[in-house]
Amino acid sequence: MAALTDVPVGAARAVTKDGHDILLSRTASDTVVAFSAVCTHQGCKVAPGDGEFDCPCHGSRFAAATGAVLGGPARRPLNPIAVTISGPDIVVA
Ligand code: FES
Repeated sequence: MAALTDVPVGAARAVTKDGHDILLSRTASDTVVAFSAVCTHQGCKVAPGDGEFDCPCHGSRFAAATGAVLGGPARRPLNPIAVTISGPDIVVA
């Protein structure tokens, strides 16, 4: 899905896998978490921002490490996607 080196520690990146928009967040050298980029408010495409994920439609903000809502109108966190690190690659689990 992406190379580990494409997502430095503390950074996030948007990728597409099988037509699904996915947000990757590297929380530690050996840890990557992923979330659906579909906003839980009305379905717009959430994008990586400055240390968080931001929805361009109505301004919802989500924590890059957990997907938790930082600011509405969204009330539910981003849906997590299971990923693992396999050698030099980040892969959907
Ligand atoms: Fe994301 Fe409304 S669809 S804030």
